[in-house]
Amino acid sequence: MKKIKKIIDKKNKSKIVCLTAYSKNMAEELDKYVDIVLVGDSLGSVLYNYSTTRKVTLTEMINHSKSVRSGVKKSLMVVDMPFNTYANKNLALKNAKKIIKKTKCDAVKLEGGKKIISQVKFLIKNKIPVMGHLGLLPQSAKGKFKSKGKTPKEINQLMNDAVLLQKTGVFAIVLECIKSSIAKQITKKLKIPTIGIGSSVYCDGQVLVTDDLIGLNQTKIKFVKRFVNVKKYIKAGIRKFASEVRSKKYPTKKYSY
Ligand code: KIV
Repeated sequence: MKKIKKIIDKKNKSKIVCLTAYSKNMAEELDKYVDIVLVGDSLGSVLYNYSTTRKVTLTEMINHSKSVRSGVKKSLMVVDMPFNTYANKNLALKNAKKIIKKTKCDAVKLEGGKKIISQVKFLIKNKIPVMGHLGLLPQSAKGKFKSKGKTPKEINQLMNDAVLLQKTGVFAIVLECIKSSIAKQITKKLKIPTIGIGSSVYCDGQVLVTDDLIGLNQTKIKFVKRFVNVKKYIKAGIRKFASEVRSKKYPTKKYSY
């Protein structure tokens, strides 16, 4: 709870940094620099090449989260509840408890607003910290991913959902692909922080899929900035290994028993 309070207290003071991790080694590196490590169900497309995050299973999320847990010491660790694991409030509680028990994460994230409010309410009533997720919802998106907040109906729904989630007790809300001016309005209206992804600098924090920003996952999504291209370094190391094995330069005595 102390970690969650620290996140909330950052609102209007300093930006919140959140990134995804799916395994221990990456989590260890993130933990030095970020406030929140998210085990996102984006692992379905990034690691398993699934066409949709709907295919991600609870077992997959739990196994990756266990690995991440061993790398996260100081940051808040949040785990996505996969599609169909929170279809009603009893199922949501059963699965959230299982995720927390097995992974020792600090909170879970659910996609949606009014439609899933009874599940969110029930989790919070049972002392499970919840992070919200509004805007583009990959678990329910049909067809091409489109930005949100363009029509009066959409804007109204986003504003109402954000206020409702806050009232229900979520500690932060991810705003995905929401028009800048609307993300700004939501952020201003809420007392809890908003974490943007493709939703402008006006959000209280930012989240990205780590594999995208380091160039491990090649994507052309508008909001992804590639901060480094690690593929270049991976290629160089692998090429050198292959060459030294073939030329018998490796392993020398130093690397042999
Ligand atoms: O699944 C995920 O990685 C996410 C973030 C991109 C917000 O939900």
